[in-house]
Amino acid sequence: MTRPDIRSVAVIGGDGIGLEVTAQGRRILELVAEKRSLPVKLVDVDYGVDAYKAHGEVLPDLTRRAMRDADAILFGATGGPAFDAIPAQARKAGSLLVVRRDFNLFANLRPVKVMPALYEASSLKQRVLEGLDMVIVRELVGGVYFGEPRGIETLPDGERRGVNTHAYTSTQIRRVAHVAFELARTRKGRVCSVAKENVMEAGRLWREEVQAVHDADYADLELTHMLADNCAMQLVRAPAQFDVIVTDNLFGDILSDCAAMATGSLGMLPSASLGPVEDDGRRAALYEPVHGSAPDIAGKELANPIGSILSVAMMLRFSFGMGKEADLIERAISDAVASGARTADIANGSRHLSTAEMGDAVASKLTALLN
Ligand code: IPM
Ligand code: MG
Repeated sequence: MTRPDIRSVAVIGGDGIGLEVTAQGRRILELVAEKRSLPVKLVDVDYGVDAYKAHGEVLPDLTRRAMRDADAILFGATGGPAFDAIPAQARKAGSLLVVRRDFNLFANLRPVKVMPALYEASSLKQRVLEGLDMVIVRELVGGVYFGEPRGIETLPDGERRGVNTHAYTSTQIRRVAHVAFELARTRKGRVCSVAKENVMEAGRLWREEVQAVHDADYADLELTHMLADNCAMQLVRAPAQFDVIVTDNLFGDILSDCAAMATGSLGMLPSASLGPVEDDGRRAALYEPVHGSAPDIAGKELANPIGSILSVAMMLRFSFGMGKEADLIERAISDAVASGARTADIANGSRHLSTAEMGDAVASKLTALLN
């Protein structure tokens, strides 16, 4: 056991570019810890392809234990061809979905904030990007990702049938709605609930339960409802209208990729996946960039580490109560970007930095801000 005043962080690079970007997130965390005399214990553990090669398991017991004991988890990425080559049973036993379910990480926060220096990198026009600063709160352990029955069956006539089940209980909806409203209270106070209540019963329940939570506990905040297809359109038409979006697992997955492009690159987006607050005040918390393992550029030091570094900022904000330092990390990143630091994904074809050089650029701005 660690001393209660020591913050322990399980660090998991995982697969593909997860390793390179997490190395940069990790060093920024160490820099803040050093400058603020924060006692942090970093525990590096294996996950994914490397773990399978070394231990025959994607998610070895040692890793699972380190994750359970930690105050927060910094995660890189999972997936890719080498991962897909692992036998299905071993792959499924340790998949990211299993991690989300086993740690009950029901609330996934995906902030999307545009940096003026990167207007050019976005596929959208500057005039629609101005003022864009929102968070998508995605339900992460329910809906069609986990619903039963599921599978592929062969019917008597030889036809095959694929089945997935989309289902939500009121408890599942209400707890994520609470997270969204609490978050909105620290921001502009506006929540937009997104579902497909025009065709789905689970969507109707979603809308009713979010409305009930609002009316009971958050009547001072603004709540609107939007159909998911319209939301996809609004995200590219006028994304700055949103403050907090709360939506289910599948719509959240799709809409967050869509929203990401406003920032110029999926490589810019961090996330936090949070469990319920336990009786002792602790809550499971996993921080990871939204981008995947990007096997095509893995190991080439081409990846953008900003998603991982911003994930560290979220860790400081949500797990360690260090909102000021989180703000400074965000400022260091926009300072670095404003002074021309670019990885390939946001360079628009001009000169770009390596993953570690981008880490250097942010670390040097941050050092100045922390002194
Ligand atoms: C995400 C990813 C995952 C998801 C994949 C890797 C299973 O796309 O976190 O958005 O679909 O949830
Ligand atoms: Mg996704």
